[in-house]
Amino acid sequence: MNLLVVGGAGYIGSVVTEELVRGRHSVIVLDDLSTGHRDAVAPLAYLVKGAIGDAARLREAFTTKEIDCVIHLAARSIVSDSVADPEGYEEANVRQGTILLDAMKEHGVSRIVFSSTAAVYDASAPMPLRETSPLVPGNPYGWTKLRFEEILRERARADGMRYVSLRYFNVAGASIDHGEDHRRETHLIPLLLDAALGAREAVPVFGSDYPTQDGTAVRDYIHVVDIAEAHVRAIRYLMEGGASATLNLGAERGLSVREVIGWVERVTGRGVPTVEAPRRAGDPPSLIASSEEAGRVLGWRPQWGDIDTIIETAWTWRQRYPEGYAE
Ligand SMILES: NC(=O)c1ccc[n+]([C@@H]2O[C@H](COP(=O)([O-])OP(=O)(O)OC[C@H]3O[C@@H](n4cnc5c(N)ncnc54)[C@H](O)[C@@H]3O)[C@@H](O)[C@H]2O)c1
Repeated sequence: MNLLVVGGAGYIGSVVTEELVRGRHSVIVLDDLSTGHRDAVAPLAYLVKGAIGDAARLREAFTTKEIDCVIHLAARSIVSDSVADPEGYEEANVRQGTILLDAMKEHGVSRIVFSSTAAVYDASAPMPLRETSPLVPGNPYGWTKLRFEEILRERARADGMRYVSLRYFNVAGASIDHGEDHRRETHLIPLLLDAALGAREAVPVFGSDYPTQDGTAVRDYIHVVDIAEAHVRAIRYLMEGGASATLNLGAERGLSVREVIGWVERVTGRGVPTVEAPRRAGDPPSLIASSEEAGRVLGWRPQWGDIDTIIETAWTWRQRYPEGYAE
């Protein structure tokens, strides 16, 4: 198949691209490298450097090969930034995304896999969250993802587009060659690993007064390789004529920040300095998935679910690449 991975130079996109190339698909990556890296793109994939709002680069991406399916991972995705700049997030995650959908229509491409998020849910709903749980995002980032899901539904009705929206929970871990390297890191596990390496001062624990077992925020951590496998299955599902679907992807268990710190210390054998800090704007107390529906529709089950495996793979990658990607 010929696949266009938008955002394929990013953390998750690079692992998705790696899996697709390994499956002998022909992969074109469109990425503006705003938070991604040229070196993160699998060597057998063809990189078009450009933004999804750039008509010329979009044309290049859609005409290099006849595209069978688009995988859309490109977004701004830092919750606290979205609180500070909701309009910028609307522009990047919604309006720019519709330019991509217009280009798909123009080039006769009707299938898309979209990276959505647990942030679309009302975090005060009972856990675990199911696809039928109430949708009330707690921050502008979540609202932009929910709005784009609605646009996909509208396009499906109007233009016959078919989509799979994958609502990831907290993605973590690494493959052998690809890991998490954000120049402005906000994710807990890479921050803790950097501190374990001595490359960072104490890691802030944002909020220790949440209504959770130890007062710190609880999240559902899912391995990036499992996420990539769900994309492979979602593409196959759409190619075989599957109906549009919206699916959670999580490991179905919650771990508090303090529990993750303990696991990082055990896996690395090093102490990790942390410091208590106030809650971060837009962060809910707890997010835990039910992934039953993804099992039913895609036959997907996490294979790398244990937190020690997730941390171990991220740690191995970080030790191999202590400075991250080259540029
Ligand atoms: N990391 C997580 O835990 C998580 C959880 C839920 C959802 N998501 C979603 O998954 C997707 C990927 O997340 P990630 O953690 O890999 O982020 P990332 O920042 O590492 O990757 C995003 C990639 O998209 C590119 N990009 C951004 N805006 C672009 C634009 N306008 N045009 C072209 N390229 C652009 C960036 O350069 C980067 O390579 C995002 O849509 C994010 O919202 C991530």
